[in-house]
Amino acid sequence: MSQPKIVLGVGGGIAAYKACEVLRGLTESGHDVRVVPTEAALRFVGAATFEALSGHPVHTGVFTEVPDVQHVRVGKEADLVLVVPATADLLARAAHGLADDLLTNTLLTARCPVAFFPAMHTEMWEHPATRDNVALLRARGAVVTEPDSGRLTGVDTGKGRLADSREIVDLARLLLARPDALPRELEGVRVVVSAGGTREALDPVRYLGNRSSGKQGYALARVAAQRGADVTLVAAHTVALPEPAGAEVVHVSSAEQLGKAVSAAAVDADVVVMAAAVADFRPESRAEHKIKKTDDAPDPAITLTRNADILAGLVADRRPGQIIVGFAAETGDAHGSVLDHARAKLRRKGSDLLVVNAVGEGMAFEVEDNTGWLLSADGLEQRIPLGAKAQLAATLWDAVTDLLGRSRDRQ
Ligand code: CTP
Repeated sequence: MSQPKIVLGVGGGIAAYKACEVLRGLTESGHDVRVVPTEAALRFVGAATFEALSGHPVHTGVFTEVPDVQHVRVGKEADLVLVVPATADLLARAAHGLADDLLTNTLLTARCPVAFFPAMHTEMWEHPATRDNVALLRARGAVVTEPDSGRLTGVDTGKGRLADSREIVDLARLLLARPDALPRELEGVRVVVSAGGTREALDPVRYLGNRSSGKQGYALARVAAQRGADVTLVAAHTVALPEPAGAEVVHVSSAEQLGKAVSAAAVDADVVVMAAAVADFRPESRAEHKIKKTDDAPDPAITLTRNADILAGLVADRRPGQIIVGFAAETGDAHGSVLDHARAKLRRKGSDLLVVNAVGEGMAFEVEDNTGWLLSADGLEQRIPLGAKAQLAATLWDAVTDLLGRSRDRQ
């Protein structure tokens, strides 16, 4: 199989240096990447850097390799075009179909998915001209992601930071696998996603925890935000992950804290997805001081008490039309297969959808890819093929969008 061809357009903003990280991430995961910077981008990062990292020559104008009709060929041959960073000027030129350099020519000739990752000052992002350009590009089918909030160039903070490079690489992989993965179908939909593993304290330094990495929950939040949803991510403990651009993140630790944060956010949510690995039990008491070992006393025993079932509570309190999704990690045993256990759990929990992962032997926990089944309360059973966690997220949001449409039709 030939390698997919990615064009990495680079705009002239300070975040251009982060395009090098994206380039590195893409080439290291085996992609053939050709960099097409603007003239202004080369004032921030030299062509030699892009050439060395990509292994391809770098041009900005349309008057090089003329017999090869490069200004048309680069776009036509691409399987994916990414623009990192997309400056306000570049978004404007793309929206208006200008073709005054190689990158804008490439944007006009590309027939593959095109994704812009904006970075600019908050005022520029919020200006009606930029808002209109973004809306126009999205209406024509381009992906324009939400920028991150945080520290900008200089001392100011606000919305306008370039999304984290790992997030950009993830979304690029998703678009290569599924070019239609990021439709703006969740505009105006309020979504709550829980992610990660809870920690139940034994004493000030020890806890009972689990191996959840949080990657699946973060991928769900990321894909929902890029489909236009208003996302609150309630994050328990995870491996180091970039915060999904455009989502509000609430950090928690224990099951009790997670329950409170999810319930508060769920009050006006349209969809709640419980992807967190919530501890079923917690130590009955938390020692105020560090537990010591002593030779003249028996070894301590841990008595556990049950945590509330957050998902069951959400189902019991749900508003009409609100969609609740559960996750289950199952293994087959003498009492039934993974699917048997999953069907029983869906009935018991009463959620609208249940995503089931088969766990054990390197599957689901701490790995990049995921597979499983998607079960719905009305009997649908869909096999989710092995793929990136963002792909599973896209499949789940498709099913949620479908349910939201049906519940709107009924109202
Ligand atoms: N869950 C929850 N509150 C808990 C435990 C689990 O909301 N106290 C949610 C998880 O976030 C997940 C779903 O319930 O969406 C299923 O989790 P799982 O641990 O598989 O369910 P349990 O009911 O604990 O079933 P089991 O006895 O198989 O562990």
